[in-house]
Amino acid sequence: MIDQYEAYYQNAFGTPALVMDRGEGVYVWDTEGKKYLDLLAGIAVNALGYGDTSMVEAMVDQAGRLAHVSNFFTTAPQVNLAKRLVSLLVDEGGAPGKVFLANSGAEANEGAMKLAMLHKPGGTIVALEGGFHGRTLGSLSITHKPTIREPFGQIPGCEFIPSEIEALQALGDDVAAIFLEPIQGERGVVPLSPEFLAAARATADRIGALLVIDEIQTGMGRTGRWFAHTEHVRADVVTLAKGLGGGMPVGAIIATGEAADLFTPGSHGSTFGGNPVVAAASLAVLDKVAGLLDQVSATGEWLRGRLESEGFPVRGSGLLLGVTVTDAPGLVVQLRDRGYIVNAPNENTLRLAPPLIITPEELEPFIEDLRDLRGLT
Ligand SMILES: Cc1ncc(COP(=O)(O)O)c(C=O)c1O
Repeated sequence: MIDQYEAYYQNAFGTPALVMDRGEGVYVWDTEGKKYLDLLAGIAVNALGYGDTSMVEAMVDQAGRLAHVSNFFTTAPQVNLAKRLVSLLVDEGGAPGKVFLANSGAEANEGAMKLAMLHKPGGTIVALEGGFHGRTLGSLSITHKPTIREPFGQIPGCEFIPSEIEALQALGDDVAAIFLEPIQGERGVVPLSPEFLAAARATADRIGALLVIDEIQTGMGRTGRWFAHTEHVRADVVTLAKGLGGGMPVGAIIATGEAADLFTPGSHGSTFGGNPVVAAASLAVLDKVAGLLDQVSATGEWLRGRLESEGFPVRGSGLLLGVTVTDAPGLVVQLRDRGYIVNAPNENTLRLAPPLIITPEELEPFIEDLRDLRGLT
């Protein structure tokens, strides 16, 4: 399979480490029959792990009933998902709004960028150094990492600022939107301070810009709350993807206030966005995650405490944690050999984003192997 991958698949990701075969709960098996504890969950996607029966049943039922309709029509799952997302935001103190459903995180951010352009035509879109918002040309223009962005240039009117309050204070009323992630996942799980988030809100209000909060990695229960930002700040627009679909491709834009009505017929579209099978899967995921939020907080606290007690510095919240180590890429390979899947967003961070169903008992062997490997290096 690896040879054939190299022959037939474009080399965007390098050679894959493994060929995966099946999953159950928090474990996956490769085609050699080796079992792995999945501490990455498809990069913060598989919220319910693998093979959740209510999610599978919801998808099978909807696929048998109606797998796709064009956006000339709607379906109950599409509408119910939109309604559910708005009510989750309102329940956590956000403003009421309206949803657009897309197929990925990058697409959700593309749509949010178009909202910014309609909000203030010709305005600048400001994003943060170290931030990641996707790989399509619009979302890549607000993704900071030079090595992945520079070969493609930037669409006009996108700028980066450091995550410093003074940088926000220097922004003027030419700015249409400020994009930020409450915890910068790809940077290495780096949370923004509550003070910075409050200053971003104050700045957006002062200059008449939209505050767009990218909750693609942090949202839908990952931090033990539906949204990582609502405790600290109110967003004008929220983007979601990853965990929302529990493994099915989905993205969502929740636009509040005036932004909720910026799209009019013709301004945006997507053949598959709002697909009823994907929306049915997302609704099943949200039903289950509603009963897991407290467990995510408790397990996340336990995991952080256990790692810290072994002397590892930890950042993040809930079940999105960045652990400071030396030679993270090397450790990823050593851990994989011992049956654990994690990743290294940078040279000295291991990212842990396991399925939200994981328990301390399932995590304990990982801590012991991590401690053991550190002793060996
Ligand atoms: C914060 C954030 N925004 C956007 C994206 C892009 O999402 P997608 O890969 O679904 O396009 C990601 C993916 O890692 C992300 O972490």
